[in-house]
Amino acid sequence: MSEYVISTENLSKTYGFLFWKKEKPSLDKLTLKIPKGVVFGFLGPNGAGKTTTIKLFMDLIKPSSGTVSILGKPAGDIEVKRKIGFLPDAPAFSQYLKAYEFLMICAKLLRIPSSERKKRIEEVLAKVKMTEYAKSKLGGFSRGMLQRIGIAQAMLNKPEILILDEPLTGLDPHGRQELKDIIIAQKKAGTNVFFSSHILSDVETMCDQIGILHRGKLLCHGELNSLLSEKGCRVMIAAGKEDIAKELMPDSIKSHKLNNGGWELEFDEDEKFKEKLNLMKEKEGNFITIMPSTENLETFFFRTIENNIKTVNLNAEGI
Ligand SMILES: Nc1ncnc2c1ncn2[C@@H]1O[C@H](COP(=O)(O)OP(=O)(O)OP(=O)(O)O)[C@@H](O)[C@H]1O
Ligand SMILES: [Mg+2]
Repeated sequence: MSEYVISTENLSKTYGFLFWKKEKPSLDKLTLKIPKGVVFGFLGPNGAGKTTTIKLFMDLIKPSSGTVSILGKPAGDIEVKRKIGFLPDAPAFSQYLKAYEFLMICAKLLRIPSSERKKRIEEVLAKVKMTEYAKSKLGGFSRGMLQRIGIAQAMLNKPEILILDEPLTGLDPHGRQELKDIIIAQKKAGTNVFFSSHILSDVETMCDQIGILHRGKLLCHGELNSLLSEKGCRVMIAAGKEDIAKELMPDSIKSHKLNNGGWELEFDEDEKFKEKLNLMKEKEGNFITIMPSTENLETFFFRTIENNIKTVNLNAEGI
């Protein structure tokens, strides 16, 4: 049995065929190993290649090159497919079916034993707080309600792994909180979760690991805590100590005067500068407070994307 839930090796996809083939791959040599028991958030701007990746995981499209294995078997393996709960990016629902009827069809397709179907449907409807709409037609549902039904069908087969493309889209803040609770409960019950999202604040509170994709390339991935860990420091300087602020300011990346007359300066990671700062702290005592500065996911995300754009531009200019 594989130690990874999802494992890809140089996975690439270029859409089109022969003359109609796109110039650039939509997914470019993705190598990703996701261990068991984590909630993985897959991030990237529009068109980054997230849905393409998920379609490759689900064997809905074929790779141009590279490999993907899910739960130790190649994507598309019929046994493995039964262990996956999947929410596509734009699920299509028949307008005329009632929620319960739709889930019953899904239960049959998933080959859930007939004796268990009713109970499972009731369970998932309760989980997504849609029990009272079981007998209502899907055609009358709002986008958020349909999203809940989509998530319910993904959980019907008690999956080992949930693969969700933008599950938070269309949900109101209350619905997003409920879905976050569902995902955390699923993780506690031993389900592995892989989902794509644009909602960085939610990803930050839910995920153990993240990956950032941009223009088909994976820019970084790993434990969220270590990616956002200490990056330099923040220094508070007491009011009346303008001379210290002025001395440190040329090395800072950001500085601003506080309402109380003091200063707050931000510094990048730099060992030499840290020594200087520590010496100053020894001399000035309580007039200086040094704190590690951590990034939030939003700042980290934009910095990562901007750095990639700069690098690509420099390469294009041959610098
Ligand atoms: N069927 C297709 N034929 C041709 N090009 C496609 C096809 N599907 C996607 N693409 C292209 O592949 C790239 C990646 O698209 P993809 O849908 O995977 O991005 P995404 O990260 O899911 O974006 P979003 O956040 O908007 O959902 C885009 O440039 C898109 O135009
Ligand atoms: Mg998408």
